[in-house]
Amino acid sequence: MTDVLETTVTTPLADDATWWRQAAVYQIYPRSFADANADGIGDLPGITARVPYLRDLGIDAVWLSPFYPSALADGGYDVDDYRDVDPRLGTLADFDAMVDALHGAGIRIIVDIVPNHTSDRHEWFVEALASPAGSAARARYIFRDGLGPNGSLPPADWTSAFGGPAWEPVGDGQWYLHYFATEQPDLNWDNPEVHEDFLTTLRFWSDRGVDGFRIDVAHGLAKRLDAELPTQAEMDAMPKDGGHPLWDRDEVHEIYAEWRRVFDSYTPPRTAVAEAWVDSSRRPRYASPDGLGQAFNFDLLESEFDAAEFRSIVTANLALAAASGSSTTWVLSNHDVVRHATRYGLPPRSGIDEKHGSQWLLSGGVTPVLDREQGLRRARAASLFMLALPGSAYVYQGEELGLHEVAEIPAAERQDPAFFRNPGIDIGRDGCRVPIPWTRDGSSFGFGAESAHLPQPSWFGDSSVEAEAADPASTLSLYRDALALRHALQGAEELEWVTTDRADVLHFRRPNGWGIVLNFGTEPVALPAGEVLIASASLVGGRLAGESAVWLRAA
Ligand code: NOJ
Repeated sequence: MTDVLETTVTTPLADDATWWRQAAVYQIYPRSFADANADGIGDLPGITARVPYLRDLGIDAVWLSPFYPSALADGGYDVDDYRDVDPRLGTLADFDAMVDALHGAGIRIIVDIVPNHTSDRHEWFVEALASPAGSAARARYIFRDGLGPNGSLPPADWTSAFGGPAWEPVGDGQWYLHYFATEQPDLNWDNPEVHEDFLTTLRFWSDRGVDGFRIDVAHGLAKRLDAELPTQAEMDAMPKDGGHPLWDRDEVHEIYAEWRRVFDSYTPPRTAVAEAWVDSSRRPRYASPDGLGQAFNFDLLESEFDAAEFRSIVTANLALAAASGSSTTWVLSNHDVVRHATRYGLPPRSGIDEKHGSQWLLSGGVTPVLDREQGLRRARAASLFMLALPGSAYVYQGEELGLHEVAEIPAAERQDPAFFRNPGIDIGRDGCRVPIPWTRDGSSFGFGAESAHLPQPSWFGDSSVEAEAADPASTLSLYRDALALRHALQGAEELEWVTTDRADVLHFRRPNGWGIVLNFGTEPVALPAGEVLIASASLVGGRLAGESAVWLRAA
């Protein structure tokens, strides 16, 4: 590391309305982060105890995946009560203590809001089941009469995102829609009561000091279900450009305009980021300052480790962000996909789309052969690339340790509904949700329990915080150094591409005279003039090694 950091000024948590634009946000999957009460499930006091780790890592904010009361039919995305904490994870007082500790360390907090569906244990759904067809209680959800004699056939042949049917009978001839698991009934956003209740929830957490919200399935809330429902095949053939019955309908933005008024009633305004799997041309509306303000861009996460793909993704997304007046977001890993260290160590496209790597998982981690070193080498370079980009960067817990996906989870211990609803087709997302190794050895590698809720493999110890904190060449040290430098150097949300001699080498510069060179190829390449601030791998005779990156400051 260089003397750059000597000039760093620590900014106190101020009423800065733009803090999110280039924030480094660390995603915590609470059940798998740190377990303070040793029951096998991570909890809020566990997070509070690890605030010094988060501070030293150098992130600006944390985003917590759901910590609300839940039967965990979908890892907490099946919410029983939006304004409480799951007793296994703590209490509202624990939440307040966590927020104080985070804010005290200069870290903001974003919580996950799940508005497309509740859980089937939510008081509204319990009431809906106990109430007759046509009742006000059922009108909060999407109930339809079944077809055929006594309504014994589903209203449509739709398939849920996790596989299997998307309509479930309730025994009186009616069926309800659950686009995700059976335990996740979809809400009816045509109902004003649903609107009111979510406004109350947004105020509830904002009043408790929450700085922002991550909006789950943000593109799915507005639905248009006519009396005659289309078939799944008809829906599959429909473009998703505003006219689809389920996805990315224009009316959804009326909901976010309503939410924006709540966000803006706070100082600083609360922020939000949309999880919206929409065509990129339609992303700016979610990111508009009149709406949620920012939207996830998953393009890097879906890309191969490839110079041309990376470059065109960056160029396109900076233009989209400019069109929305927002900043863009970068993501390489999250709780829904195979970790990027593993994706990059597998043959290209071994799996499909966001499930890239699924074939390998299905084989129990045997075929195709994972090249762990190559995966990690590339992941370190790609992470430096992401952290050098303008916009905000989302870091998923464990990626700062260079963790690989865990393939070796026995079927009996898997939890993800995607695994149970798609036998032999989808192994699910448990492999990136295995509790974090804090120590080299000991029970649950320092996670806190005798045994963690998902089994940790023996190789976890080598990638533990304890092992890596002591090693200046570790991935943890790389992230710490990069995040500190990013703070010191960030500057305006711009970059300029610098021409290179090789198609597999990218070079860009940021306004403050620093930038990155990334060698996607395997042959070393000469570096342009400048001071090397940080490197993902040792230089080879002064040249940039294959599959590695450096941050350079102009000479
Ligand atoms: C997206 C979340 O990231 C994922 O984990 C969840 O299963 C679905 N939404 C349904 O809530």
